[in-house]
Amino acid sequence: MTPPKPHGTLTVCITGGAGQISYSLLPLIASGEVFGHEQPIELRLLDIKPALEALNGVVMELHDCSFPLLRGIVATDDPMVAFRHADVAVLAGSFPRRPGMERRELLAKNVNIFKAHGHALDQVASKNVKIVVVGNPSNTNALVLSHFAPSIPKGNITALTRLDHNRTVSQVALRTGVSVNDVDGVAIWGNHSATQYPDMTRATAKGELAMPMLGGRKVVAEEIIPCIQKRGAAVLKARGFSSAMSAANAIGDHLRSWLMGDSKIVSMAVASDGSYHVKAGVYFSFPVRCVGGGEYEIVQGIELGEFSRKYVSATTEELFAEREEALSLL
Ligand code: LMR
Repeated sequence: MTPPKPHGTLTVCITGGAGQISYSLLPLIASGEVFGHEQPIELRLLDIKPALEALNGVVMELHDCSFPLLRGIVATDDPMVAFRHADVAVLAGSFPRRPGMERRELLAKNVNIFKAHGHALDQVASKNVKIVVVGNPSNTNALVLSHFAPSIPKGNITALTRLDHNRTVSQVALRTGVSVNDVDGVAIWGNHSATQYPDMTRATAKGELAMPMLGGRKVVAEEIIPCIQKRGAAVLKARGFSSAMSAANAIGDHLRSWLMGDSKIVSMAVASDGSYHVKAGVYFSFPVRCVGGGEYEIVQGIELGEFSRKYVSATTEELFAEREEALSLL
């Protein structure tokens, strides 16, 4: 995998281009906060036909921002246009869960979207494209996408769990009274769902083990883990909309770490490879080390105690069940 050309234009495609996440993400990308202040950007914004008028308004605003790095904008409802030569694709668009909708129904709607996007990426994107799936159920949407994009290396496809990682860092910082910069060693394991495992067993706050400061395992298990697992639902209930600003911020963090490297261990949902007994075949969040240029490695050798193993098994089971369901729908 090669890093983005330092002086060439980076083609970045965002699906759900007229949506809330895109609205918060676009200024981060176009201002240079994600790919660096030297990297010219061409944007491709994809949305469905009924959203094209709103998308046109977003394009007007982008022009009005007069971003020096922004070299071109294409707004379209055609994935073959949006993904052409894409170097980076942020797949934020998906079918939202409606009240009373069964998970299977949601999966069925999204299987079709990610099948179409996989096909189009396979045919027209750069073979080196870096993809982050955000739309839910994101891990399984990434799996469907990779199934229909066989020419794109599985390692170039990821799903977002940096939002959960950031939520965990923030909870540890708030509860131990340190700044977020002083927190290290957290990890998200598994699915971006209520079964995810926000792992704080090795977390440190200012270099000290955080568990005792957090109140010990009982408080972590009964209060802090459920708070993080249900944070998306809590934001949705309070705002009336899903997280958008924090999701966009996490996408920026995910892409920056992945492409530019990161001195800290971060969390990304990536193709499982048997690490930690998670068989190949799902997109699973692991602690990863990003060395830059789109390379990452799953951190090896972490001792998972009984406390952690119980959570990791539950989220693994859920992901394999989602996989079965998605495959049965294809
Ligand atoms: C989040 O974690 O905030 C979102 O994935 C929640 C959702 O269902 O949109």
